[in-house]
Amino acid sequence: MTVKKCLFPVAGLGTRFLPVTKEIAKEMLPLVNRPIISYGVEEALASGCEDIVMITGRTKRSIENYFDRSFELEDILKRRGKLELYQKMIQISEMAEVLYIRQREPLGLGHAVLCGEPVCKDEFFGVILPDDVFIGKAPVLSQLIKVHERLGGSVVALEKVADKDVSRYGIAAGDEVESGIFRISDMVEKPKLEDAPSRYAIMGRYVLSPEIFTLLHGQQAGTGGEIQLTDAIRELTKSEPVWGVVYHGKRFDCGTQKGWLSANIQLALDDDELREVVMEIVNAQK
Ligand code: UTP
Repeated sequence: MTVKKCLFPVAGLGTRFLPVTKEIAKEMLPLVNRPIISYGVEEALASGCEDIVMITGRTKRSIENYFDRSFELEDILKRRGKLELYQKMIQISEMAEVLYIRQREPLGLGHAVLCGEPVCKDEFFGVILPDDVFIGKAPVLSQLIKVHERLGGSVVALEKVADKDVSRYGIAAGDEVESGIFRISDMVEKPKLEDAPSRYAIMGRYVLSPEIFTLLHGQQAGTGGEIQLTDAIRELTKSEPVWGVVYHGKRFDCGTQKGWLSANIQLALDDDELREVVMEIVNAQK
């Protein structure tokens, strides 16, 4: 009943963060001292996952390189006696077993998940959208996995959003079966406020049944010409339980400039040394 594989769809174009994402994978933008993608991988490992499966595109080679050995750099660091840094570089390449599958065309998140079928078709698996960075004590994926282990079925992360934000997300409908846990009966991708079934938005963490692949195969391109994961999960609710969990933690949408900047400031404020740097700048504005 546990979840050992975690899928990372990272083949998107990152248009909300242009022009920087013209040449740089947004997952490689730094959050203080590590790339965004590293936070997601650390979360998956801390949640008990062992295999990391990245769905990448042609502009995302830097992600593969980041998790690989870098013999030249390691050699130079060793020769210069920078042994602590040398060890750190080795640790990054050893932190996880990472597999890569190419999504040849960015046909949507649903299609990206479908690309993971050869590896994930036999068991429940986790999905992390690494743009959504959660800062908090318990890793959000582990909060979902706990519900899956207790109740079975698929699980999505929910957050209550303000009216003005409803049209930016997939919105869930369902009955609350326990405090903060809903049995989901319907989902709508980016609805107008008046069409939204609730204010609970689905955020970038999932535990999915392998049955999702059958449903994704049957999907037609939906909103924006893309194959939507939300449509397949909505179909799934008709045959298997899908739970929504209101997660604990603070989310930053690092796929946007504002979210990325906020995450950097939050992480700096959480660090004793960097906090001083931020406060110095803020105080100098007064
Ligand atoms: P987004 O909706 O954030 O799209 O995708 P995007 O292309 O990354 O960014 P914007 O909206 O243009 O700025 C959600 C997640 O799904 C992945 C993205 O990499 C991101 O992790 N994705 C999206 C794919 O892997 N393939 C796709 O075809 C689309």
